[in-house]
Amino acid sequence: MTGARSGRFSGARAPAFVALNSSLALDWRLWAEDIEGSVAHARALRGAGVLAAAELTAIETGLAAVGREIEAGAFTPADADEDVHMAVERRLTELTGEAGAKLHTARSRNDQVVTDVRLHLRRVIERQDAALAALQGVLLGRAADHVETVMPAYTHLQRAQVTSLAQHLMAYFWMLERDRGRLAAAREACLELPLGAGAAVGLDFDLKREAVATDLGFTRVAENSLDAVANRDFAVDYLATAAQLGTHFSRLGGELVLWASAEFGFVAMPDAYSGSSSVMPQKKNPDAAELMRAAAPRLSADLGGLLGVLHGLPLAYNTDLREDKRYLFDAVDCLDQLLPVVHGLLEGVTFDEARLTAACDPFLAATDVADYLVEKGVPFREAHYLTGTLVRQCLEAGVALGDVSVDQLRELSPVFDDGYYALHEPAAQLARKRSRGGSAPARVREQLELAGAALAAHPCC
Ligand code: ARG
Repeated sequence: MTGARSGRFSGARAPAFVALNSSLALDWRLWAEDIEGSVAHARALRGAGVLAAAELTAIETGLAAVGREIEAGAFTPADADEDVHMAVERRLTELTGEAGAKLHTARSRNDQVVTDVRLHLRRVIERQDAALAALQGVLLGRAADHVETVMPAYTHLQRAQVTSLAQHLMAYFWMLERDRGRLAAAREACLELPLGAGAAVGLDFDLKREAVATDLGFTRVAENSLDAVANRDFAVDYLATAAQLGTHFSRLGGELVLWASAEFGFVAMPDAYSGSSSVMPQKKNPDAAELMRAAAPRLSADLGGLLGVLHGLPLAYNTDLREDKRYLFDAVDCLDQLLPVVHGLLEGVTFDEARLTAACDPFLAATDVADYLVEKGVPFREAHYLTGTLVRQCLEAGVALGDVSVDQLRELSPVFDDGYYALHEPAAQLARKRSRGGSAPARVREQLELAGAALAAHPCC
């Protein structure tokens, strides 16, 4: 590894192939983990007697120097550097000579790259999980202020029954809670050390892999060398989680877009997260929410991309696997950009309580009326039919459901009494939704407490 390509070749590589084959644009971000992994590997080589103490010191010092050069922007990869691993090793060897040339003993880029990616992804997951926990905190805080703010719940995007803004916002809290569970599982999958598998079949040296694992914060070693270099399940786990999270964000973003329309008027977007029109001076566009919505196809395409790379791929390492980073890091970057925007948007959005309440039209009480009849002993199917008839009569007469006289009601069923009139306040309908997990303020307060406890129990993974 002194810069020459390989003794195997007499001819140079075609420039077009060099360009295609370089993965520097995909993997440069792994430089810190590459150095970290190399230090741990060098220590294992010393433990196995491959390196002398002075050589280990030279490698450690040299790798630290390479790290400083990269950090300072003073490091330029050479044309011959196919990837970050070759670039770091080449520079180390320039700095340290023979010691550096020994570093790649008992190691292949095949076990090296996937070790670096696991190290890197674990940290990404920790960072993004912390952002999700903070986002849950925002949802919880905003929900706590709106336990009694009524709004319609929709089915088929038709007004259905009364719920509260708190209940609606908390639906997203629980989605994120599940996403965080999946993220924790993806992080767990990152904790198995591939290094020590070599190119595919294991090493001619008995390196202490457990010690390397401990050194790098892995909890276990991969038990099969072929699997170790071919395995990208951890990346699939992350991308599947990202795709699911993207779907959740897209539903929230999609709702915010609808709610910000004049037709709904449920929310006003903060200026800091709104776009303008280059033509129509009056426009305030919900760009941030639209981009939340649009991230979902990108994230699920990243998942599909990696699954495509892995499909039918023979064991063990294939250059196709280089492409894992294209999809993985695209999803990482997408979420890194999105998370602070979702946070700021949810913190800054203003809810229009008057509009939310006004949207609770009188017919939202219909199911409550049917349930009231059930409480009077009418079988539900019959109660449903009677209430439907009452709704039709009201619509035909242009009368609100709560404005029908008892006499008229009794023409439909003798069980109607004055209790009927207590059903028509949205707050009364809300209070009736008293099953566990329901919208009644008392239930939502219980839910907020459980959610707060869940958040405190695992602030981040
Ligand atoms: N840069 C490659 C990757 O990202 C690692 C090198 C794989 N080994 C090889 N012999 N081409 O997967």
